[in-house]
Amino acid sequence: MIIGIGIDIIEISRIQNAIEKNPRFCDRVFTKTEIQYTDGKKNKFQHLAARFAAKEAFFKAIGKHIAWADVETINLPSGQPQLVIYAKEDFGFTRSHISLSHLADHALAVVILEKE
Ligand SMILES: CC(C)(COP(=O)(O)OP(=O)(O)OC[C@H]1O[C@@H](n2cnc3c(N)ncnc32)[C@H](O)[C@@H]1OP(=O)(O)O)[C@@H](O)C(=O)NCCC(=O)NCCS
Repeated sequence: MIIGIGIDIIEISRIQNAIEKNPRFCDRVFTKTEIQYTDGKKNKFQHLAARFAAKEAFFKAIGKHIAWADVETINLPSGQPQLVIYAKEDFGFTRSHISLSHLADHALAVVILEKE
């Protein structure tokens, strides 16, 4: 049974500006794994913005805001993204699904939460 769905779209320039103005923004919002994944990519801000959108989409799916770094996007060897949630709180879902997309200017994420 689907118990939550969230979507978010973000301008990549917004994330790039936030990081360039305040380097601590990156460490507060993104996990080490997320930063490592995006470091060395052709346009790392595209991937970071998608991960930011993933956090916002997750917040919409659970109906509340939790710490940014408690919501992490990892990638399987195939490239498929997956959510890892570090918060101790039980949000009632047993399975999560995520999909990301980015263009030159915008990044988008969709999250679906299921309870088996
Ligand atoms: C994977 C694919 C769907 C990405 O689409 P795209 O239009 O190039 O790029 P988009 O911006 O829409 O999506 C990029 C996101 O797709 C996701 N993605 C990558 N591989 C994926 C996969 N196998 N399954 C689901 N999602 C995937 C990632 O989250 C990626 O963003 P990230 O690198 O920041 O995490 C596309 O490359 C494709 O259709 N490839 C053919 C299938 C394929 O190669 N599968 C992988 C086999 S190893």
